[in-house]
Amino acid sequence: MANKTYALITGASNGIGKAFAEECAARGKNVLLVALPEPKLEEVTNQLSSQYTDLSFHHLGINLMEQGAPRQILNWCQEKGYVVDLLINNAGLGNSGPFVSRPSEFYEGQMQLNMVSLVSLTHLFLPMMMSLPKANIINVASMAAFYDIPFKGIYSASKKFVLSFSRSLNKELEGSSVSITVLCPASVPTNPDVMLREKELGLMARLSSRSPQQVAQYTLDKMLQGRQVVIPGFFPRLYKRIGTVVPYRARLNILAKQFIKNSK
Ligand SMILES: NC(=O)c1ccc[n+]([C@@H]2O[C@H](COP(=O)([O-])OP(=O)(O)OC[C@H]3O[C@@H](n4cnc5c(N)ncnc54)[C@H](OP(=O)(O)O)[C@@H]3O)[C@@H](O)[C@H]2O)c1
Repeated sequence: MANKTYALITGASNGIGKAFAEECAARGKNVLLVALPEPKLEEVTNQLSSQYTDLSFHHLGINLMEQGAPRQILNWCQEKGYVVDLLINNAGLGNSGPFVSRPSEFYEGQMQLNMVSLVSLTHLFLPMMMSLPKANIINVASMAAFYDIPFKGIYSASKKFVLSFSRSLNKELEGSSVSITVLCPASVPTNPDVMLREKELGLMARLSSRSPQQVAQYTLDKMLQGRQVVIPGFFPRLYKRIGTVVPYRARLNILAKQFIKNSK
Protein backbone atom coordinates (compact mmCIF):
# COMPACT_ATOMS: atom_id res chain seq x y z
CA MET A 1 0.00 0.00 0.00
CA ALA A 2 1.30 3.49 -0.86
CA ASN A 3 2.50 5.64 2.08
CA LYS A 4 0.22 8.44 3.26
CA THR A 5 1.26 11.87 2.06
CA TYR A 6 1.47 14.99 4.21
CA ALA A 7 1.57 18.76 4.03
CA LEU A 8 4.61 19.98 5.98
CA ILE A 9 4.05 23.51 7.29
CA THR A 10 6.63 25.66 9.09
CA GLY A 11 5.38 28.24 11.57
CA ALA A 12 2.21 26.16 11.97
CA SER A 13 1.46 27.11 15.58
CA ASN A 14 0.13 30.58 14.84
CA GLY A 15 -1.19 32.99 12.22
CA ILE A 16 -1.00 32.11 8.53
CA GLY A 17 0.78 28.79 9.16
CA LYS A 18 -1.90 27.66 11.60
CA ALA A 19 -4.60 28.69 9.11
CA PHE A 20 -2.82 26.65 6.40
CA ALA A 21 -2.79 23.63 8.76
CA GLU A 22 -6.53 24.02 9.46
CA GLU A 23 -7.38 24.53 5.78
CA CYS A 24 -5.28 21.54 4.68
CA ALA A 25 -7.08 19.39 7.27
CA ALA A 26 -10.47 20.69 6.11
CA ARG A 27 -9.46 19.56 2.58
CA GLY A 28 -8.58 16.07 3.82
CA LYS A 29 -4.79 16.39 4.03
CA ASN A 30 -2.59 14.91 6.75
CA VAL A 31 -0.36 17.61 8.26
CA LEU A 32 3.14 17.82 9.79
CA LEU A 33 3.31 20.94 11.94
CA VAL A 34 6.71 22.54 12.57
CA ALA A 35 7.34 25.59 14.76
CA LEU A 36 9.26 26.71 17.83
CA PRO A 37 9.07 24.18 20.68
CA GLU A 38 6.29 26.02 22.53
CA PRO A 39 3.16 24.43 24.11
CA LYS A 40 0.84 25.98 21.51
CA LEU A 41 2.37 23.81 18.76
CA GLU A 42 1.19 20.70 20.59
CA GLU A 43 -2.15 22.37 21.37
CA VAL A 44 -2.83 23.10 17.68
CA THR A 45 -1.80 19.54 16.73
CA ASN A 46 -4.06 18.01 19.40
CA GLN A 47 -6.96 20.22 18.42
CA LEU A 48 -6.68 19.13 14.77
CA SER A 49 -6.30 15.46 15.79
CA SER A 50 -9.50 15.56 17.83
CA GLN A 51 -11.41 17.43 15.10
CA TYR A 52 -10.28 15.26 12.17
CA THR A 53 -10.03 11.75 13.59
CA ASP A 54 -9.53 10.09 10.18
CA LEU A 55 -6.43 12.19 9.39
CA SER A 56 -2.86 12.16 10.82
CA PHE A 57 -1.18 15.13 12.48
CA HIS A 58 2.35 15.18 13.93
CA HIS A 59 4.45 18.03 15.21
CA LEU A 60 8.13 18.88 15.60
CA GLY A 61 9.29 21.76 17.80
CA ILE A 62 12.49 23.21 16.38
CA ASN A 63 14.19 26.58 15.98
CA LEU A 64 14.61 27.28 12.26
CA MET A 65 17.15 29.99 13.06
CA GLU A 66 19.56 27.16 13.88
CA GLN A 67 21.60 26.05 10.90
CA GLY A 68 21.05 22.28 11.25
CA ALA A 69 17.25 22.53 11.71
CA PRO A 70 16.16 21.81 8.09
CA ARG A 71 18.30 18.63 8.04
CA GLN A 72 16.75 17.54 11.36
CA ILE A 73 13.27 18.03 9.86
CA LEU A 74 14.14 15.84 6.86
CA ASN A 75 15.67 13.19 9.16
CA TRP A 76 12.49 13.22 11.28
CA CYS A 77 10.35 12.63 8.17
CA GLN A 78 12.62 9.89 6.86
CA GLU A 79 12.79 8.07 10.22
CA LYS A 80 9.00 8.17 10.63
CA GLY A 81 8.25 7.40 6.96
CA TYR A 82 6.37 10.69 6.37
CA VAL A 83 6.08 11.46 2.65
CA VAL A 84 5.67 15.18 1.92
CA ASP A 85 3.78 16.25 -1.20
CA LEU A 86 3.08 19.82 -0.03
CA LEU A 87 5.81 21.91 1.61
CA ILE A 88 4.69 25.27 2.98
CA ASN A 89 7.69 27.41 3.92
CA ASN A 90 5.80 29.91 6.04
CA ALA A 91 7.84 30.68 9.19
CA GLY A 92 9.27 34.17 9.01
CA LEU A 93 10.10 37.16 11.16
CA GLY A 94 9.18 40.79 10.49
CA ASN A 95 10.19 44.02 12.18
CA SER A 96 10.38 47.74 11.57
CA GLY A 97 12.65 50.45 12.91
CA PRO A 98 15.96 52.17 12.14
CA PHE A 99 18.48 49.63 10.84
CA VAL A 100 21.04 50.45 13.55
CA SER A 101 18.51 50.14 16.37
CA ARG A 102 18.87 46.35 16.45
CA PRO A 103 22.01 44.27 17.02
CA SER A 104 23.42 42.57 13.92
CA GLU A 105 22.54 39.19 15.54
CA PHE A 106 18.87 40.05 15.12
CA TYR A 107 19.26 40.48 11.35
CA GLU A 108 21.43 37.36 11.08
CA GLY A 109 18.62 35.36 12.73
CA GLN A 110 15.99 37.02 10.55
CA MET A 111 17.92 36.24 7.36
CA GLN A 112 18.56 32.66 8.52
CA LEU A 113 14.84 32.12 9.16
CA ASN A 114 13.35 34.05 6.22
CA MET A 115 15.81 32.93 3.52
CA VAL A 116 18.40 30.29 4.47
CA SER A 117 16.05 27.81 6.17
CA LEU A 118 13.54 28.18 3.29
CA VAL A 119 16.23 27.43 0.69
CA SER A 120 17.57 24.48 2.72
CA LEU A 121 14.13 22.92 3.25
CA THR A 122 13.32 23.32 -0.45
CA HIS A 123 16.66 21.78 -1.42
CA LEU A 124 16.39 18.88 1.04
CA PHE A 125 12.75 17.97 0.27
CA LEU A 126 12.84 18.37 -3.54
CA PRO A 127 14.27 14.90 -4.33
CA MET A 128 11.47 13.23 -2.30
CA MET A 129 8.84 15.49 -3.89
CA MET A 130 10.14 15.02 -7.44
CA SER A 131 9.74 11.27 -7.07
CA LEU A 132 5.98 11.70 -6.53
CA PRO A 133 3.44 12.02 -9.35
CA LYS A 134 2.47 15.55 -8.17
CA ALA A 135 3.78 17.85 -5.44
CA ASN A 136 3.66 21.55 -4.55
CA ILE A 137 5.72 24.05 -2.62
CA ILE A 138 4.29 27.29 -1.24
CA ASN A 139 6.90 29.85 -0.23
CA VAL A 140 5.57 32.72 1.85
CA ALA A 141 6.97 36.10 0.80
CA SER A 142 5.05 39.37 1.30
CA MET A 143 3.78 42.42 -0.57
CA ALA A 144 7.00 43.92 0.86
CA ALA A 145 8.80 41.86 -1.80
CA PHE A 146 7.69 44.37 -4.47
CA TYR A 147 9.21 47.44 -2.78
CA ASP A 148 12.35 48.84 -1.17
CA ILE A 149 11.10 49.73 2.31
CA PRO A 150 13.07 52.13 4.50
CA PHE A 151 12.92 51.13 8.21
CA LYS A 152 12.06 47.60 7.07
CA GLY A 153 15.00 47.03 4.73
CA ILE A 154 16.21 43.55 5.70
CA TYR A 155 12.66 42.21 5.87
CA SER A 156 11.66 43.55 2.44
CA ALA A 157 14.99 42.39 0.94
CA SER A 158 14.50 38.91 2.43
CA LYS A 159 11.01 38.69 0.90
CA LYS A 160 12.32 39.90 -2.50
CA PHE A 161 14.80 37.03 -2.25
CA VAL A 162 11.97 34.55 -1.59
CA LEU A 163 9.98 35.89 -4.56
CA SER A 164 12.92 35.84 -6.96
CA PHE A 165 14.21 32.41 -5.84
CA SER A 166 10.73 30.87 -6.05
CA ARG A 167 10.01 32.22 -9.54
CA SER A 168 13.34 31.12 -10.98
CA LEU A 169 13.19 27.67 -9.39
CA ASN A 170 9.61 27.22 -10.60
CA LYS A 171 10.80 27.83 -14.18
CA GLU A 172 13.69 25.42 -13.63
CA LEU A 173 11.21 22.76 -12.45
CA GLU A 174 8.97 23.06 -15.52
CA GLY A 175 8.25 19.59 -16.82
CA SER A 176 8.85 18.03 -13.38
CA SER A 177 6.09 16.97 -10.98
CA VAL A 178 6.76 19.89 -8.61
CA SER A 179 5.36 23.43 -8.88
CA ILE A 180 6.17 26.41 -6.72
CA THR A 181 3.67 29.05 -5.68
CA VAL A 182 4.85 32.20 -3.93
CA LEU A 183 2.41 33.92 -1.59
CA CYS A 184 2.65 37.71 -1.21
CA PRO A 185 0.13 38.80 1.43
CA ALA A 186 -0.45 42.39 2.51
CA SER A 187 -1.58 42.86 6.09
CA VAL A 188 -2.81 39.77 7.96
CA PRO A 189 -3.76 40.30 11.62
CA THR A 190 -1.91 37.38 13.18
CA ASN A 191 0.03 38.73 16.15
CA PRO A 192 0.01 41.91 18.32
CA ASP A 193 2.82 43.56 16.28
CA VAL A 194 0.92 43.21 12.99
CA MET A 195 -2.32 44.43 14.57
CA LEU A 196 -0.59 47.54 15.93
CA ARG A 197 1.04 48.19 12.54
CA GLU A 198 -2.35 47.87 10.81
CA LYS A 199 -3.81 50.44 13.21
CA GLU A 200 -0.92 52.88 12.73
CA LEU A 201 -0.82 52.57 8.94
CA GLY A 202 -4.52 53.50 8.77
CA LEU A 203 -7.11 53.05 6.06
CA MET A 204 -4.83 51.65 3.33
CA ALA A 205 -3.64 48.84 5.60
CA ARG A 206 -7.15 48.13 6.84
CA LEU A 207 -8.54 47.91 3.29
CA SER A 208 -5.73 45.50 2.38
CA SER A 209 -6.20 43.33 5.43
CA ARG A 210 -7.19 39.69 5.01
CA SER A 211 -7.74 37.13 7.77
CA PRO A 212 -5.29 34.20 8.00
CA GLN A 213 -8.16 31.88 7.00
CA GLN A 214 -8.97 33.92 3.87
CA VAL A 215 -5.28 33.92 2.91
CA ALA A 216 -4.88 30.16 3.39
CA GLN A 217 -8.06 29.27 1.46
CA TYR A 218 -7.33 31.65 -1.43
CA THR A 219 -3.71 30.51 -1.72
CA LEU A 220 -4.54 26.80 -1.80
CA ASP A 221 -7.23 27.46 -4.44
CA LYS A 222 -4.79 29.45 -6.60
CA MET A 223 -2.04 26.85 -6.11
CA LEU A 224 -4.41 24.17 -7.45
CA GLN A 225 -5.10 26.41 -10.46
CA GLY A 226 -1.33 26.60 -11.11
CA ARG A 227 -0.86 30.27 -10.14
CA GLN A 228 2.80 31.18 -9.63
CA VAL A 229 2.42 34.40 -7.60
CA VAL A 230 -0.57 34.84 -5.27
CA ILE A 231 -1.63 38.21 -3.85
CA PRO A 232 -4.77 37.81 -1.73
CA GLY A 233 -7.22 40.74 -1.88
CA PHE A 234 -8.40 43.31 -4.42
CA PHE A 235 -6.78 46.34 -2.74
CA PRO A 236 -3.26 44.89 -2.46
CA ARG A 237 -3.40 44.02 -6.17
CA LEU A 238 -4.67 47.54 -6.95
CA TYR A 239 -1.91 49.20 -4.83
CA LYS A 240 0.70 47.10 -6.59
CA ARG A 241 -0.58 48.33 -9.98
CA ILE A 242 -0.71 51.95 -8.84
CA GLY A 243 2.78 51.54 -7.36
CA THR A 244 4.23 50.78 -10.79
CA VAL A 245 3.22 54.23 -12.14
CA VAL A 246 4.48 56.22 -9.11
CA PRO A 247 8.09 57.34 -9.71
CA TYR A 248 10.63 55.41 -7.64
CA ARG A 249 11.82 58.35 -5.46
CA ALA A 250 8.25 59.39 -4.64
CA ARG A 251 7.39 55.81 -3.72
CA LEU A 252 10.44 55.57 -1.48
CA ASN A 253 9.48 58.82 0.29
CA ILE A 254 5.90 57.63 0.87
CA LEU A 255 7.10 54.29 2.28
CA ALA A 256 9.74 55.98 4.47
CA LYS A 257 7.06 58.26 5.96
CA GLN A 258 4.68 55.36 6.53
CA PHE A 259 7.20 53.07 8.17
CA ILE A 260 8.99 55.65 10.35
CA LYS A 261 5.61 56.07 12.08
CA ASN A 262 5.58 52.35 12.69
CA SER A 263 9.22 52.15 13.84
CA LYS A 264 9.96 50.33 17.02
N1 LIG B 1 1.05 38.83 9.17
C1 LIG B 1 1.28 39.61 8.13
O1 LIG B 1 0.74 40.74 8.01
C2 LIG B 1 2.18 39.14 7.02
C3 LIG B 1 2.23 39.89 5.83
C4 LIG B 1 3.08 39.47 4.81
C5 LIG B 1 3.84 38.32 4.97
N2 LIG B 1 3.79 37.63 6.14
C6 LIG B 1 4.63 36.44 6.26
O2 LIG B 1 3.82 35.33 6.59
C7 LIG B 1 4.55 34.39 7.37
C8 LIG B 1 3.77 34.07 8.63
O3 LIG B 1 3.50 35.28 9.31
P1 LIG B 1 2.51 35.36 10.55
O4 LIG B 1 2.13 36.78 10.69
O5 LIG B 1 1.48 34.31 10.42
O6 LIG B 1 3.52 35.00 11.75
P2 LIG B 1 3.22 34.73 13.28
O7 LIG B 1 1.78 34.86 13.60
O8 LIG B 1 4.21 35.55 14.05
O9 LIG B 1 3.62 33.18 13.40
C9 LIG B 1 4.90 32.81 13.05
C10 LIG B 1 5.01 31.31 13.15
O10 LIG B 1 6.38 30.94 12.89
C11 LIG B 1 6.93 30.32 14.05
N3 LIG B 1 8.30 30.72 14.22
C12 LIG B 1 8.77 31.96 14.49
N4 LIG B 1 10.10 31.92 14.60
C13 LIG B 1 10.47 30.64 14.38
C14 LIG B 1 11.71 29.96 14.38
N5 LIG B 1 12.85 30.61 14.62
N6 LIG B 1 11.73 28.64 14.13
C15 LIG B 1 10.58 27.96 13.91
N7 LIG B 1 9.37 28.54 13.89
C16 LIG B 1 9.33 29.87 14.12
C17 LIG B 1 6.06 30.82 15.20
O11 LIG B 1 6.16 29.99 16.33
P3 LIG B 1 5.77 30.64 17.76
O12 LIG B 1 4.30 30.96 17.65
O13 LIG B 1 6.09 29.62 18.77
O14 LIG B 1 6.59 31.90 17.90
C18 LIG B 1 4.70 30.79 14.54
O15 LIG B 1 4.22 29.48 14.44
C19 LIG B 1 5.92 35.04 7.64
O16 LIG B 1 6.84 34.55 6.71
C20 LIG B 1 5.65 36.51 7.40
O17 LIG B 1 6.81 37.22 7.01
C21 LIG B 1 2.97 38.01 7.18
